[in-house]
Amino acid sequence: MKILLDLITEQVSDAFEAAGFDAKLGKVTLSNRPDLCEYQCNGALAGAKLYHKAPIQIANAVKEQLADCKMFSGVEAVNPGFLNIRLDSDFLTEYVSAMAADARMGCEQDPDAGTVIVDYGGPNVAKPLHIGHLRSAIIGESIKRIYAYFGNHTIGDIHLGDWGLQMGLIIAEVQERQPELPYFDPAFTGEYPAEAPFTISELEEIYPKASAKSKENAEFAKRAHDATYELQNGNRGYLAMWQHIMRVSVADLKKNYDNLNVHFEQWLGESDAQSFIPQMLDTVKAKGLAVESDGALVVPVQEESDTKEIPPCILVKSDGATLYATTDLATIVQRMQDFHPQRMMYLTDNRQNLHFEQFFRVAKKAGLVEPDTRLDHIGFGTMNGKDGKPFKTRAGGVMRLEVLIQEITDYVIAKIRENQTVEESALADTAKKIAMSALKYGDLSNLATKDYVFDLDRFSAFEGNTGPYILYTIVRIKSILSKYTGDVAASKLLPPDGQEQRELMLVLTRMQDALLSAYRESAPNLICAYIYELAVAANKFYHDVKIISEPDAAKQGSYIALMDLTRRVLEQCIDLLGFEAPDKM
Ligand code: ARG
Repeated sequence: MKILLDLITEQVSDAFEAAGFDAKLGKVTLSNRPDLCEYQCNGALAGAKLYHKAPIQIANAVKEQLADCKMFSGVEAVNPGFLNIRLDSDFLTEYVSAMAADARMGCEQDPDAGTVIVDYGGPNVAKPLHIGHLRSAIIGESIKRIYAYFGNHTIGDIHLGDWGLQMGLIIAEVQERQPELPYFDPAFTGEYPAEAPFTISELEEIYPKASAKSKENAEFAKRAHDATYELQNGNRGYLAMWQHIMRVSVADLKKNYDNLNVHFEQWLGESDAQSFIPQMLDTVKAKGLAVESDGALVVPVQEESDTKEIPPCILVKSDGATLYATTDLATIVQRMQDFHPQRMMYLTDNRQNLHFEQFFRVAKKAGLVEPDTRLDHIGFGTMNGKDGKPFKTRAGGVMRLEVLIQEITDYVIAKIRENQTVEESALADTAKKIAMSALKYGDLSNLATKDYVFDLDRFSAFEGNTGPYILYTIVRIKSILSKYTGDVAASKLLPPDGQEQRELMLVLTRMQDALLSAYRESAPNLICAYIYELAVAANKFYHDVKIISEPDAAKQGSYIALMDLTRRVLEQCIDLLGFEAPDKM
């Protein structure tokens, strides 16, 4: 469906033209004085200079042209030259009914949609998943869903950090603890055991120990470095050990992300890109982009228009080691070969801005992507505690994601037990859904680039601009619908008979604008802002209007039709944010 605001703008633009003025002056916006009108056009003010006329004269001339327009019930020209517009009720009803008749509520797909890779999550294997990776997962999942909704073929890739020093640290530590294992015997030629020599909890204990040890013990640090080097150069025993580490941690990661309702299409990682490094380096060198600097191979990427210094991108260190950027460039080669995407989006915190800027420039210059392939880094701020510092456990440590989710869920369980609305058997599932909404909405409702404060009380409140408030609205609507004895699907919307109903219908018409802006700007916060407005309007409506006790069947059916559409819009939107509503709460 056409966006309502565009339809209105078309009408008003035509009227400007018919009155002898430039059609471009007819741009209409939502009113910033909702007490006076619903929409406004300020074109007459801009036209005054062009046509050497008083703006009110222009406004009046345009108003006259709109006198018979069926779309509006009132157009006023007010001093100094505003056009105040009110929509015709029948037209509004037709528009909202057409939304209801469409499975996508009138939202059109992007005709230019293509293949989009969303690189998000980005956990480092064998290190526990902590809340530092939470924002990437939450925002990335939402952006991926929004892109898919607009018709793109989206491929979410977790891009595991699975090839770094942490692997060498674990190998060195296991070797110290169990030197008799065959992985450490260079003479061993048989089959390595199928069973990993550690469980996930042991692995999670091993890594921090090894990491701490390497900081105090230079000799151990060297062994870990050597093990990393040997692993990356094909040591058979270390590779077998690496596979154990991968299997054990990936199983755990899958469980954790499932728990967050975050799902990846591809579980590729840094290790998968390694075999593309030589090819990538050849291309960069053949283009004459690489230069030697103190024994390292680097690509200068500074451009004249830069206002700050952008240091060269280092591809190979003087000792032959490759780096984060090397892997990311090789991954681009791999992705172009496997998926040929039109766009790649990366989600990490803002501290990695420079890294992305550097390797994106190399990728473009070297032609690793096509000239019109879009490479976007979506950087986000930190999740802070109430003290304004990055969120920590009470003891000051890094909080594990699992623990965080459990804490929120427990908090919610206590709360819904108090309300006594949910049966004991549905408690766990309901609490989980509410907890997810608190966590995800709390995050997504902020502009991604900004830091925000994680506030459990505020995020899980059932009132205010929160996820649970949105769920509560959906649950209330579902309860109203379940009490209706007629056929919800057959109910027919009538023109609004009160201000609350009219307001709710007007907010509903804005769904497509809201989703489209969120899509164009990769900004889920715009969906949050929209559904909050919608939920507020819905609450006002069902508080004001007695739906189930309405004696007039046609009126009642109309209210029901409106409630059901509101529910559908809200449920579609929260699905794009990555959470869902329970039946009761
Ligand atoms: N593993 C990285 C980290 O923890 C994030 C990976 C992001 N993706 C990428 N292609 N660089 O910082």
